[in-house]
Amino acid sequence: MMMKMKSSVRGSAAASAAMCCLVLLITTADFCNGGVTSRFVRKPEESQDMPLDADVLRVPPGYNAPQQVHITQGDHEGKGMIVSWVTQDEPGSSKLIYWTENGKKQAAYGLITTYDYYTYKSGYIHHCNLKNLEHDTKYYYEVGTGGNNTRQFWFKTPPKVGPDVPFTFGLIGDLGQTFDSNATLTHYENNPIGGQTVLFLGDLSYADNHPNHDNVKWDTFGRFIERSAAYQPWIWTTGNHEIDYAPEIGETKPFKPFTHRYHTPYKASISTAPHWYSVKIGSAYIIVLSSYSAYGKYTPQTEWLEKELPKVNRSETPWLIVLVHSPWYNSYNYHYMEGETMRVMYEPLLVQHRVDLVFAGHVHAYERSERISNVAYRVVSGDCKPAKDDDAPVYITIGDGGNIEGLANNMTEPQPEYSAYREASFGHATLSIKNRTHAYYT
Ligand SMILES: [Fe+2]
Repeated sequence: MMMKMKSSVRGSAAASAAMCCLVLLITTADFCNGGVTSRFVRKPEESQDMPLDADVLRVPPGYNAPQQVHITQGDHEGKGMIVSWVTQDEPGSSKLIYWTENGKKQAAYGLITTYDYYTYKSGYIHHCNLKNLEHDTKYYYEVGTGGNNTRQFWFKTPPKVGPDVPFTFGLIGDLGQTFDSNATLTHYENNPIGGQTVLFLGDLSYADNHPNHDNVKWDTFGRFIERSAAYQPWIWTTGNHEIDYAPEIGETKPFKPFTHRYHTPYKASISTAPHWYSVKIGSAYIIVLSSYSAYGKYTPQTEWLEKELPKVNRSETPWLIVLVHSPWYNSYNYHYMEGETMRVMYEPLLVQHRVDLVFAGHVHAYERSERISNVAYRVVSGDCKPAKDDDAPVYITIGDGGNIEGLANNMTEPQPEYSAYREASFGHATLSIKNRTHAYYT
């Protein structure tokens, strides 16, 4: 589908005229295409976790060889990259060597962390934040330096931020590590559209679905995604499967495995916790929210979001995108209305600041909304129905990565008017931003 950016940013009179035509076309399209429920299912059978000896979960050969290598953007502008990896046998060196095609080799040093979870003891988790990189440049990097088992990878930094910078995002949610998860990741890797960065909508390893939150599953998940996440940044949203709160086994610190293993550049956006933050990529401003951190009035997340939204300069980053785990608009009979309290708190802010797209996961299916809002409600007026609103975002649920819990294939009937398209099938999406007015989402 073609997505139109909000008309708050307009380049020229010609662009304005074109925009008006688009508004008309899209308004018509909304009504024509609204309310489709697809019955397609990629694979109806229940998903099973891949076995420990699956080739895609393999431990790299050699003593203390770095494993679970993954990267994420390390700053607000795209000139930083956080590189993370695990050494299993001993801490080893936290030195990382990196270089460009014709440049000289440079060294950076990471920090090492470990954690215990019930009877599990983690390996040595390294995080190294590379700073002041050149935009739009391919960097090679090597970890495990000093041992005999160094491993080499590469990534490309994003282009300098600007209003017409094209950029392609991959969108994956609720991935897990089943045979279906593997199919989803393979489809993404082979997608000719060529995603440059993954926006991940939360729920990574599903370790908590196993006895005592078997944290070995966090390790196997790290090895599973390495083939993509070591080469392009994955932007992390926290889901309920990251909470790992288990007082019955003495684990009372929420998000313990996730926060040790997956870093986010939250300090660069003046956030006070890794679960809510923002990054600029290409012509997009990405705001990540946390469904499982406090979001009431006066809470840190709310105070941050209230200050954050007015900071967005739409002349620089015309596309404003929000990521959150639990969807605010969901017409499946799974997690029904779980996102409602956060919607009540934050939807007026998003409409006021004309957010373009809100991506969510959690529900293991696909759903796209019309451009609607439900912000008129007052106790005295009782006006509480989603209504067409050109200032409102389009809401997309893409929690269909293929995890062990299976598909959400039971829908509320009839399909509500605000719901444009639903399909209970595993998959991923891509969002190719072309310029300040057009993007192609599929
Ligand atoms: Fe979830």
